[in-house]
Amino acid sequence: MPRLPACLSLRRLLNARRREARSRVIGLGCIGLPTAAIIARANCQVTGIDVSDHVVDTINRGEIHIEEVDLDGLVQGVVQRGTLRASTQIVPADVFVIAVPTPFEKDGQHTPDTSYVMAAATEVAGVLKKSDTIILESTCPVGTTEAMRDLIAGLRPDLKLPGQTAETPDVSIAYCPERVLPGKILEELAHNDRSIGGITPRCVRKALAFRANIDDFRESPARFIAASLAREFGERVQIVEPYAGELPREFEGTGAALVGHDVFKAVPAEERSHALIYDTRGIWPDARYSAGQIGLRLAS
Ligand SMILES: NC(=O)c1ccc[n+]([C@@H]2O[C@H](COP(=O)([O-])OP(=O)(O)OC[C@H]3O[C@@H](n4cnc5c(N)ncnc54)[C@H](O)[C@@H]3O)[C@@H](O)[C@H]2O)c1
Repeated sequence: MPRLPACLSLRRLLNARRREARSRVIGLGCIGLPTAAIIARANCQVTGIDVSDHVVDTINRGEIHIEEVDLDGLVQGVVQRGTLRASTQIVPADVFVIAVPTPFEKDGQHTPDTSYVMAAATEVAGVLKKSDTIILESTCPVGTTEAMRDLIAGLRPDLKLPGQTAETPDVSIAYCPERVLPGKILEELAHNDRSIGGITPRCVRKALAFRANIDDFRESPARFIAASLAREFGERVQIVEPYAGELPREFEGTGAALVGHDVFKAVPAEERSHALIYDTRGIWPDARYSAGQIGLRLAS
């Protein structure tokens, strides 16, 4: 029998290892439930956490409480297979994905209400341990990721958090906002370009390593992002910046080039590598790219 190339067998081994990661998806609505289901479809163990008994009971029966194309069959399958279950109680895990609502406050000012995110972060803080990763997927205003980190720091002074220590942090915190459209969520969750920001590049890498198990970009060379990618690929990396700006400090001396957002948009979707945003801050829906945020792609 022909032997597997070493790199292929190593990759399989690494993928198998990663799949052992236990994950929790907090908030099982229009975004959280499909997300939990596709994580489970990739054979990763996932427990969905929701404050609603009705939501949890429905999912544990293998049924769904929202409308989304093909979601019913998928949830039924992964619940039967035992890779997805739901609970109202959070328990320790390796990866926490937060997908709770961020509605506008009723102040007439369109002020985003991040209290659900902070409530979820408080729950996570209670069970957080060293080497865990938190990925915020709710659509949040700029600064929410750091605010969440600061909240957790106050609740867990025993942990070293990213951006607050000169040593290697105990946990990673990333921001990966969802941009899917209802009606095509399952397809878009797996295939859309994805923006991942992290408080540090290490946070980005940890979030990306988790997403690489479930997204359909395993073969894309551009799945490695942020400054380390630029260092590796040098001038082949183009940094997409929507507004006039300077090359971010992290990329100085890497050979990476800055291009405008229009250049990126002009590239046919199938030729785009998976987009990424390297930034510690959140974005709000109408400002898909905030100043200071950057996307990368590999030049062909
Ligand atoms: N729905 C969309 O099409 C869409 C698209 C892109 C982004 N988003 C963003 O995704 C996020 C989630 O939106 P959604 O549409 O899935 O919301 P949703 O209202 O459909 O579901 C949210 C779920 O979270 C649960 N929840 C609330 N607080 C909780 C807590 N503290 N712990 C556990 N569970 C909790 C609720 O019971 C509910 O089941 C929002 O930030 C939204 O802006 C939504």
